[in-house]
Amino acid sequence: MRMVDLISKKRDGQELSKQEIDFIIEGYTNGEIPEYQMSAFAMAIYFQDMTTDERVALTKAMVESGDQIDLSAIEGIKVDKHSTGGVGDTTTLILAPLVAAVGVPVAKMSGRGLGHTGGTIDKLESIEGFEVEIDSNQFTKLVNENKVAVVGQSGNLTPADKKLYGLRDVTATVNSIPLIASSIMSKKIASGSDAIVLDVKTGSGAFMKELDGAKELAQAMVQIGNGAGRNTIAVISDMNQPLGFAIGNALEVKEAIDTLRGNGPEDLQELCLTLGSQMVYLAGEAKSIEEARQKLEDVMQSGKAIEVFKTFITAQGGDASVVDDSAKLPTASYTFEVEAKQDGYVSEIIADEIGIAASILGAGRTTKESEIDLAVGLVLNKKVGDQVKKGESLVTIHSNTEDVAEVVEKIYQTYSITTETVETRPLIHDIIHQ
Ligand code: URA
Ligand code: CA
Repeated sequence: MRMVDLISKKRDGQELSKQEIDFIIEGYTNGEIPEYQMSAFAMAIYFQDMTTDERVALTKAMVESGDQIDLSAIEGIKVDKHSTGGVGDTTTLILAPLVAAVGVPVAKMSGRGLGHTGGTIDKLESIEGFEVEIDSNQFTKLVNENKVAVVGQSGNLTPADKKLYGLRDVTATVNSIPLIASSIMSKKIASGSDAIVLDVKTGSGAFMKELDGAKELAQAMVQIGNGAGRNTIAVISDMNQPLGFAIGNALEVKEAIDTLRGNGPEDLQELCLTLGSQMVYLAGEAKSIEEARQKLEDVMQSGKAIEVFKTFITAQGGDASVVDDSAKLPTASYTFEVEAKQDGYVSEIIADEIGIAASILGAGRTTKESEIDLAVGLVLNKKVGDQVKKGESLVTIHSNTEDVAEVVEKIYQTYSITTETVETRPLIHDIIHQ
């Protein structure tokens, strides 16, 4: 086989075989296929797309390019959740103990990553003592005992994807459905769960701004997951404004605690119940989605969900008393209110821009090396559709510096206020099964 012939084949719109795709990914991973040929190949995919069989083959080849996590020592059907990323998205922190409380094993591997706020691991580290570096034996033991554990990413997962993602970034080939879908799914499949629930976001704060694109991506990922033998479902959820009220690390931990008690923001709770019922259903812990949802509501109301959260924190060395006393979480030195300049209704909050405001405060990383300030962030007091009076607080800023002029300016830019009442968008747009 010669790479140049395979590039031509894809360029001309023909379907590649599994053997051909394996040859490309193996050769690229071990350096035999140079970056310039892979660039041309990525561009050919960008224009010619891939069939479902090709997408499955590409994903599997990337999974096989590195380590794969073996979760077989953990009892039960392991279901993982993945979000395509949004602003103020605290769902993992809530879902892990929530579904564990109804008996679904949650063996979560989580990253730090870049973003407006930290990843789940960073958020958990705002709890004093919480340890995310646990070895695989301990991890297995904790999930078997408590049904939930969260560990930091380790091992060499999907090196082919790492290399290819970096190349796509500089060759204008990121925005391709087969390449995005295989990239995301390769990482999920290599992480070892039996079933996968995807939260595909759409709207101004999402990677996929338009609903059609989000649906296409969701379908592509569900087909890959099922084609690779992992039961996969995608929920398409709205990210036209941040989820919940809090954007920041410790602030989101507090919001997660409120939600586990059934006192969280309505949108965040609804998304968690929607995603959670799909997880419980796929794990075989309920016969229908309705039954799954009822079970989740029951553990929120009874206090079992919050008890599981405490057990989980204690098991990983953390101080679980933060659950009942949020003053023990990192707290910012100053708070400032951003007041509405006029009466009216909130018609828009540009999610990714308000995320940037939080990251200016220090809630997120701008480079892999930068330090996160776990205490800082924003709390939205008004969301889309809410009525607001002049002088009322739109947002509370939690800051460790007194100079927040740039952040205040940014927040005013993200909020639109109109005189007419506002129709809100649905939170759940669709659920994709195949
Ligand atoms: N996220 C990924 O992991 N891969 C992509 O290609 C795009 C977003
Ligand atoms: Ca939030």
